Amino acid sequence: MSAKTSEGAARSVPTEAEVVARVDALLGKMSLEEKVGQLTQIGAADFIPGPKPEDVIRRGGAGSVLWLNDPVKFNALQKVAVEESPSKIPVLFALDVIHGYRTIFPVPLAMAASWDPAAAERAQSVAAQEARAAGLHWTFGPMLDIARDARWGRIVEGAGEDPYLGSAMAAAQVRGFQGETLGAPDRVVACAKHFAGYGAADGGRDYDPVFLSEAQLRNVYFPPFQAAVDAGVGTFMSAYMDLNNVPASGNRFLLKDVLRGEWGFKGFVVSDAMAVGNLVVQGFARDGRDAAQRALSAGLDMDMASNTYPQHLAGLVADGSLSMADIDAAVRPILAIKVRMGLFEQPYVDETLLAQVVARPEHREAARVVAQRSMVLLRNEGGLLPLSKTTKNVAVIGPLADSMEGTEGSWMVFGHTAAAVTVLQGIRAKLPNARVEYAHGPQIKRDIPSFFDNFDPSKIKPPQAPEAAEAAFQEAVATARNADLVIMVLGEEANMAGEAASRSSIDLPGRQEELLQAVVALGKPVVLVLINGRPLSIVWASEHVPAILEAWEPGTEGGNAVADILFGDANPGGKLPVCFPRKASHAPLYYARTLTHSPEGSPMYNPRYWDGLPTPLYPFGFGLSYTTFVISDLKLSAAQVKVGGSLTVTASVTNTGAVAGDEVVQLYIHQKAGSDSRPLRELKGFERVTLQPGETRAVAFTLGAAELGYWSTRAGKWVQDAEAFDVWVGTDSTATLHADFEVIG
Ligand code: NOJ
Repeated sequence: MSAKTSEGAARSVPTEAEVVARVDALLGKMSLEEKVGQLTQIGAADFIPGPKPEDVIRRGGAGSVLWLNDPVKFNALQKVAVEESPSKIPVLFALDVIHGYRTIFPVPLAMAASWDPAAAERAQSVAAQEARAAGLHWTFGPMLDIARDARWGRIVEGAGEDPYLGSAMAAAQVRGFQGETLGAPDRVVACAKHFAGYGAADGGRDYDPVFLSEAQLRNVYFPPFQAAVDAGVGTFMSAYMDLNNVPASGNRFLLKDVLRGEWGFKGFVVSDAMAVGNLVVQGFARDGRDAAQRALSAGLDMDMASNTYPQHLAGLVADGSLSMADIDAAVRPILAIKVRMGLFEQPYVDETLLAQVVARPEHREAARVVAQRSMVLLRNEGGLLPLSKTTKNVAVIGPLADSMEGTEGSWMVFGHTAAAVTVLQGIRAKLPNARVEYAHGPQIKRDIPSFFDNFDPSKIKPPQAPEAAEAAFQEAVATARNADLVIMVLGEEANMAGEAASRSSIDLPGRQEELLQAVVALGKPVVLVLINGRPLSIVWASEHVPAILEAWEPGTEGGNAVADILFGDANPGGKLPVCFPRKASHAPLYYARTLTHSPEGSPMYNPRYWDGLPTPLYPFGFGLSYTTFVISDLKLSAAQVKVGGSLTVTASVTNTGAVAGDEVVQLYIHQKAGSDSRPLRELKGFERVTLQPGETRAVAFTLGAAELGYWSTRAGKWVQDAEAFDVWVGTDSTATLHADFEVIG
């Protein structure tokens, strides 16, 4: 077999038998200490105390290194590993390359908003090429946690609320990172994380416990992970938190029974950072020794940075608490990945390569196109957008308008300085002859800094004095007053979403909404561009600002992509991968809930809250375009289908407007009765199509056992019921074009 590079060159990839033989030979000569070393990942950042990485590697004490980002240092450490360590086993270098390495793409939530798996695959293939050229072998992505609570900061890292869309994005990202076959010389090993349930943290509070039924796990939270296994993902990362009172990193049900037993995963599992040691902190393990034994026995192969395995595994083998076979079983898949990756043949990176790879113009071009495709037009009253390029006098206002960090977003690569084109820069480039004035407005900032902010204290802003904030507010209003058109760029800074970045409110932080209201009161045309990493509560804006573009955290080319959309060089076609609640207290909120005894529209309907509508402000799957579409001709290949059989659903989509544009045709089902109650809608198909004005296209979806079956609480297993179903095809999760069919026994 061969694995192709992006230039088409091939490298021969070893067969399964060759990998096994190689791993057996290595295991045969390794000492127990070296084996434990392979199960140990060490942090090599300057801020980490402890022995020098080269000294640990020299004695065979580390199989992998993380939190280092320097090709020269990689080569120096690798030289120690392959020339001086006992069995000369190369080190795997790992880092969080989540949405780009140097060329930063939109954050994963935004990529999911493209509803275009090919775009996500392309983005991650560019990320992989750049990362590999920098000497990295392994990225801690994709993040596959379903998230239905907008307060949870890490919602930005995943594909949103839905298992079907999440699975498509999972498989695409694995293919993008790894290429066709694990071992492509210009790609990296992917890591499906955080297994599993992390997105359901109580109250949206990061790291808090998670309680999910087996049905919720299997029907909602697991599918993206299984899709990653099916796509050949090389590694998994266990999550931090307690899942039903058993920490995910010591959870045999997750790591052994489901992942290996049911899904046949053959790669290895790394813990999240410090998670093995934290089994003690979490009140699960008695001490480090107990933690090491329980994590390894549960199926956790590599200890990320907690130093618990190296301290205790050898002793546990010595006293018979663990067997050498237990250790070998964990080491095997780690060595196998190193063999497959070709690290024994080519352990080093060409230190001149990165500069050439990041300079490829197609990387920036891809970042711009993916950013355009990920943006969601939420409102466009009176067709204010697209704007005319003859506009002469524009004000661009807001704390995110010229923030490079905010534009690149959460999870920028460790050691990388933001280099994004901001919205202000993008607009100035688009309107070279116009007067484009900018005002920042009052500062926004986290009330409580995160642990990560503390790594770089220079980034912690001192609080702005109220007088200075007021002056900035007035300056922004004055700037708006002098313009013919105002573009407000509001939202969240990069450190307001992501790890340790949950919020109890999803309002625009600081005085942003007040500023928006003051600017709208001037009576000028106002466009709101949102730069943010989670759904925000924008009820006032949704009623008073004529045009709203959700740009997310759009990456290096983000400002250009925003300008392309605002001025009509690109037509927005993204759709929400999460619903936008009206306010934070409505979380968790998602479309695929089950019916109640008092459904909306029924004579017995009782309001869910007496102080406001419980429905989302913008539903899952929603997004507008500069053109209009009509979906028609819903047809089913059969009115009845046997259990295990499949039927085809077809519909036509027509561009009824005046310009070319994209629509995402979405298919939802509902099983009307059954062994269990089923969600009132579930996404089971989608396709993003590009249509010229007047053009019609037929789309077809298949519904088979995979789409119609589910894990039943009552039956305690996977079932497919012989029952009646609704099916809808449309342009968001409130689609009305409807048909019925029946599954028969
Ligand atoms: C902690 C995060 O939870 C995880 O997503 C990340 O990959 C590791 N740290 C390594 O940086």
